[in-house]
Amino acid sequence: MKKRIVSGITATGSLTIGNYIGAIKNFIKHQNDYEMFIFVADLHALTTTISPEELDKNRKEILALYIACGLNHKKSTIFFQSDVPAHSIFNWITITNTTMGELSRMNQFKDKSAKTKQSNGTDNIPTGLFVYPTLMAADILLYNPEFVPVGVDQKQHLELTRNLASRLNKKYNLNFNEPKPLFSEIGSKIMSLKSPEFKMSKSDNDKNASIFLLDDPDLAFDKIKKSVTDSENKVYYSKDKPGVNNLLTIYASLSEITIEKAEEDFKNSNYKEFKEVVGSVVRDFLIEIQKKYSESLINLPSIAKEGSIKANVIAEKNIAKILNHVGYKKF
Ligand code: AMP
Ligand code: TRP
Repeated sequence: MKKRIVSGITATGSLTIGNYIGAIKNFIKHQNDYEMFIFVADLHALTTTISPEELDKNRKEILALYIACGLNHKKSTIFFQSDVPAHSIFNWITITNTTMGELSRMNQFKDKSAKTKQSNGTDNIPTGLFVYPTLMAADILLYNPEFVPVGVDQKQHLELTRNLASRLNKKYNLNFNEPKPLFSEIGSKIMSLKSPEFKMSKSDNDKNASIFLLDDPDLAFDKIKKSVTDSENKVYYSKDKPGVNNLLTIYASLSEITIEKAEEDFKNSNYKEFKEVVGSVVRDFLIEIQKKYSESLINLPSIAKEGSIKANVIAEKNIAKILNHVGYKKF
C-alpha cells in the first residue's frame, strides 16, 4: 500500500515562487509514489483580515495553480478544506487538548502577533492566529499521513502535531502516526528579494520583494534584476551572501540542478549577467505556468467537486472513529 501525504497552503494571498519551490514542487515530486491529500487551507485564511471577495479569489486561484503547476487530480485528492466539515469538528478536539503555553511558544504566532502592535502600545491579536496550529494538526491527523511536505517555517507546527498525535493516542486509545515533515532538498526557504535575511512571503507589503506565480513575466524579470545582492560581484554560495545564495537556489531549483552545478554555471559571470540568466529562467517558468493556469480554470468546478467527495469519504470515516473514542458513542 502507498504511504500517505497531506499538505495545504493558506488562502491569504497570491502564491509566490517560494510557495512553489518550498511546497508545491515537493507535492508534485511525490504524487506517483504516495497517496496524496492536498488542499487549499481556506479556513486558515480567516486568521487574517481578509474580505469575502479576496477569500473567494484566493482560494480558487490556489486550486487552479496547483493544477497549473502539475498536480494531477486523477493521482491526488485535491480539495478545499472548507468542503470537508470534519476538519472543523476535529479542530475542537485538538484545541481542547492543547495548552495556552504550547500555542504561545509558536514562532509564527509570536512573529505575526507582534505585527498587530499599534503605535499606542495596544494590540489586537485575533484568536484565530493563536489557535491556527491546532486546526493545522487536525487537518493532518484527520488523514493519518506518514509525511507532510512543507517549507521549514512549518517545522514547529509539525512538532506540535506529533505531540498531539501521541497525546490523543494515550488519552483516547487512538493510533495516529506521528507525521514527519518533508522538506525540499533545494529551496525549503526562499528569501525576500529585497531583504534576503527574511523569508519571501505572499503577504509582504513590498511587492518587489516577492515573485508571484501570476506576476507579469517581464515584471518578474525586472524584480530579479533589481534584487538585493552585495558589492563583491562574484557568484558563489556562502553564508554571508544571502542575496546571491537565494538567486542561486531559485535558479538551481527551477533548472533541476544542484547548487554546485549552478555555481559552476556562473563562475565567470558578474552580477548583471547572473541576474539576467536567473531572471530569464524565472520568466520562462512563469510563462509556462500561466499558460496552464488559464486552461485549469475551466475544469475547476468539477475538480473541486471530485476532490471534496474523495476527501469526505476518508474524513467522515476517521472522524466517526475519533468521536467514538473521545466518548461520543452512538446508541
Ligand atoms: P504560506 O505561504 O505561509 O501559506 O505557506 C504555504 C507553504 O509554502 C508552506 O509549506 C510553507 O512552508 C511554504 N512556503 C511559504 N513561503 C516559502 C518560502 N519563502 N520558501 C519556501 N517555502 C515556503
Ligand atoms: N500552515 C500552513 C502554511 O501556511 C498551511 C497549512 C494548513 C498546512 N494546514 C496544513 C500545511 C496541513 C500542511 C498540512 O504554510
